[in-house]
Amino acid sequence: MIIAIDGPAAAGKGTLSRRIAEEYGFHHLDTGLTYRATAKALLDAGLPLDDETVAETIARKVDLSGLDRAVLSKHEIGEAASKIAVMPAVRRALVDAQRAFSLREPGTVLDGRDIGTVVCPDAPVKIYVTASAEVRAKRRYDEIVNAGGSADYAAIFEDVKRRDERDMGRSDSPLRPAEDAYLLDTSEMSIEAAFQTAKSFIDAGLSRN
Ligand code: DC
Repeated sequence: MIIAIDGPAAAGKGTLSRRIAEEYGFHHLDTGLTYRATAKALLDAGLPLDDETVAETIARKVDLSGLDRAVLSKHEIGEAASKIAVMPAVRRALVDAQRAFSLREPGTVLDGRDIGTVVCPDAPVKIYVTASAEVRAKRRYDEIVNAGGSADYAAIFEDVKRRDERDMGRSDSPLRPAEDAYLLDTSEMSIEAAFQTAKSFIDAGLSRN
């Protein structure tokens, strides 16, 4: 049983996926962390970010059990991750690991950009989570401010739009909803409402399989 969750940066996929995994007792993989862990390993080793062969070698060594968002959340790691995420050899290496994870029992929730389209095209339930760029930027802004940091809304908004362009514009596995995905626009929804809607999609999908 695989639940595939895709969508743009800061759409709330992470929070939603963790809650779904908890609700159903499934394993959860935030696939963005696999790109981030590869990027961090390259940065830490002082290796170039533009050599596909080197990046692939590092990607093949990423340990999915040791992924920690707190360690990998830094802005520069996200930037580096989005650069290596355009490389087909890196994507193949990480997709292999993600597919192996997806088969864990009793079930899995994978979230990312290409789960329903590339990683697990046969997943019985696919959800494409989105929200307007303004709402996503505001949520990220609030998150930083609530954590005691200082943030610049205009800069975050530009960053969200730039990331969307990069994720949707790349030629290998661009971000887009799978044809059979449920669309969940959370722009005007609370986390609880988004969760309840996702749950109704999943229960409908589970009863068909
Ligand atoms: O969701 P995130 O910011 O942690 O993702 C980091 C980068 O990895 C981002 O540029 C998008 C990319 N990514 C991807 O290409 N495919 C995925 N399945 C997940 C993330």
